[in-house]
Amino acid sequence: MSRKARKLGRGVALVGAGMSKFGAFPEKDTRDLFTDAFSTMAKSVDKGFDIKDIDALYVGNFSSDLFEGQGHIAPIMADWIGHVPKPATRLEAACASSGAAIREGIIGIASGLYDVVLVGGTEKMTNLPTEQVTDTLAAASDAVYEAYCGFTFPSLYATIATAYMAKYGATTEHFMKVGIKNHKNGALNPKAQFNKSIKSLMEARLEKMKQKGEPIPDWKDELDFLKDPKANPIVAWPMRLFDCSPITDGAACLLVVAEDIAKDFCNDPIYIIGTGQGSDHALYERDDMTTIGASRRAAQEAYEMAGVKPDDIQIAEVHDCFTIAELVATEDLGFFKPGEAYKAAEQGVTARDGEKPINTSGGLKSKGHPVGASGVGQVVEIWTQMRGEAGERQVPGKDITLALTHNVGATGGSCFVHIYQRR
Ligand code: COA
Repeated sequence: MSRKARKLGRGVALVGAGMSKFGAFPEKDTRDLFTDAFSTMAKSVDKGFDIKDIDALYVGNFSSDLFEGQGHIAPIMADWIGHVPKPATRLEAACASSGAAIREGIIGIASGLYDVVLVGGTEKMTNLPTEQVTDTLAAASDAVYEAYCGFTFPSLYATIATAYMAKYGATTEHFMKVGIKNHKNGALNPKAQFNKSIKSLMEARLEKMKQKGEPIPDWKDELDFLKDPKANPIVAWPMRLFDCSPITDGAACLLVVAEDIAKDFCNDPIYIIGTGQGSDHALYERDDMTTIGASRRAAQEAYEMAGVKPDDIQIAEVHDCFTIAELVATEDLGFFKPGEAYKAAEQGVTARDGEKPINTSGGLKSKGHPVGASGVGQVVEIWTQMRGEAGERQVPGKDITLALTHNVGATGGSCFVHIYQRR
């Protein structure tokens, strides 16, 4: 029996979006990051709003408990923006925590229960040393069958990468090219943690070596730089430093409203016409590690709801926590056939000026990955691009009317896909 096509009971629109800068901010905690994102979002709402207009808050956060010793953060965020005593709920789905918050916000509005919802995500990761961050993140894998056996997130994605290389013939250079593209995009994003291209990082490194009188390596281009294990050490083969997203502090916020009142807030709303969610087995249990069932399921649900096909999507922000993840994502979303994404990336199809621009923000790789905030951070880029407000980062030659976000929890235990339309 075929699955019933899902649909929203009421139209949903995005009328504001904003994020804090992503990076390492020793002086800020979760609430500071969240209030930064909230104020930026508030400035983006064309006609303004009153805090009293907001019926409910959904906030994505993976683990403020372990990162900061602060649990139950939703009422604290609500208090700091003046939303108390209205509903405030925290959602946790590992790196897709704020993807889950978006979906709950949509359900709240589509059901008719709420008219105006604040959706956010926040994570403060840099309090802890890297070893402890790694352990904390590993809690999102299968603690008994993966983390206990020594798997960390870089090594779990390295396993996906080796399976992909063995099945399709991709090489480590293909992964490096994804990183080069995303850093190139991130260089144009003032909110990005690494707003520098790999070429400029390489040139800065060479300059420093010259000044210190050290021997100068023979790097002809950024690919040469990335192949040098001194410049780009292996973290878990074949994933090297520049294949990994960084450890990041950051927050992002969206104002989501019922479609029939959207123009009370905004001159040019962005409509959310599809939402999809899926789940999958832990990585060790999957028959095929080169694809994520949760992504395929979430994409199918969102495409069916929106009545669009993968080819209709003009730009997408996809979950590139590691470079391999972007390749797998663009196949699971149906942009490319299985085993074809690495060739498309090599040919420039996914570049900002390519046929299918992917991660124009710099992606999690370069913009940063404050895990619980990353899903909403992706939507901030889509909002900015769809409204033509991305400045020098704006995708050239496209009037963007259809876009997509794809947010994965852990190695794909959860996935959320959303589709956006400008009318
Ligand atoms: N990409 C590129 N450069 C990075 C980087 C990254 N991901 N992480 C750190 N750097 C740079 C730093 O800017 C610094 O550069 P500098 O020497 O020029 O100042 C240098 O590398 C060392 O930084 P440091 O913070 O000491 O790195 P680290 O060894 O502690 O951490 C990783 C590096 C890759 C281990 C860490 O970023 C990591 O664990 N990433 C994965 C996070 C993750 O698993 N997220 C969840 C995904 S599902």
